[in-house]
Amino acid sequence: MSPQQNAPSQRGNVAEMVGAYLEAYAVLSTAADFSPRNADVTRTLTKLVARASKPYSAQETQSILGHPEVRPRIRKMWSYLSRAEAEMEAFFGEKLDKSTVTDFPYLKNYQQLAAAEISQWNRSLHFRSPESAGAIALPGAGPLPLTAVVMHQQTGRPITCIDSDPGAVRIGSRFLARCGLAKDITYVHADAASHDYRGHSAVLVASLIGDKHGVTKQIMKSKHTREYAVRSAEGTHILLYPPVPSQLPRKHGITFDRRTAPTPEIINTTLFATLPVPPAASDNLRAAGNAATQNGLCKLPPVRRPAPGHPEA
Ligand SMILES: C[S@@+](CC[C@H](N)C(=O)[O-])C[C@H]1O[C@@H](n2cnc3c(N)ncnc32)[C@H](O)[C@@H]1O
Repeated sequence: MSPQQNAPSQRGNVAEMVGAYLEAYAVLSTAADFSPRNADVTRTLTKLVARASKPYSAQETQSILGHPEVRPRIRKMWSYLSRAEAEMEAFFGEKLDKSTVTDFPYLKNYQQLAAAEISQWNRSLHFRSPESAGAIALPGAGPLPLTAVVMHQQTGRPITCIDSDPGAVRIGSRFLARCGLAKDITYVHADAASHDYRGHSAVLVASLIGDKHGVTKQIMKSKHTREYAVRSAEGTHILLYPPVPSQLPRKHGITFDRRTAPTPEIINTTLFATLPVPPAASDNLRAAGNAATQNGLCKLPPVRRPAPGHPEA
């Protein structure tokens, strides 16, 4: 069923969405404790996420995002929501293990998003090729690395979680040890904009990484990383997560050519790009191609130039 065909009761209502947003803003802007220990925070965020996940037409979305009381609050609200997400993940990361992980209220959302991301990566010949079977890096993994767990389970690959918050690294590492996954999924305490991504064939940048340009630039320095993905947001989900800056692909010479589709359970839209082959590697490929052409084996494929521009963000 498309959003336009949803029954009226399932469809979003602009006034209710704006009301839930302003109520959540009022609660978060005065809260001292952003964790699930604060019942007001949990109640207001549950309501906000439920409203933002409903279908809205393009016109309704415009009315919500451009609302005179909503618009000036969006940036500040991202910082409140980022803190609330980090504190919620830390709260559950500290106590959950393999048998109790189902107590995490957003488990289904995290599982479905990570599974959709892996299925997009699996569509890439490069990701599936044996030469690409390296580790996956998750900059901004946070204190409850459920994305890492799903990705490891689905691909069998080692995962590196990178986080600049020592608390997230400590809580996440202990969670992995309790789950018996500490060998396969490891943490690095580092700023993702200065971490060395060598040895990682695929990188997924979390939506709550602040400096997406710096992190992208650093990832592109690695000669090993070909599969790049970044979590973004669109439509009313922009109320909850910042979208990837629209100038990011042009600035870094990459083209987003695949994406995950948001659903009522999947809030983020993840954008995918296959990074250009670094100059040294493309010289080798060209030399190999020329040799093959001279031997009459094949024609040299055209050099791939990334088209500038972002499809939608
Ligand atoms: C709340 S968490 C969880 C990730 C979330 N599930 C997502 O997809 O965005 C976001 C984490 O990103 C980390 N973070 C933000 N900016 C970072 C950076 N530049 N380098 C490393 N970690 C960063 C924060 O410390 C935090 O633990």
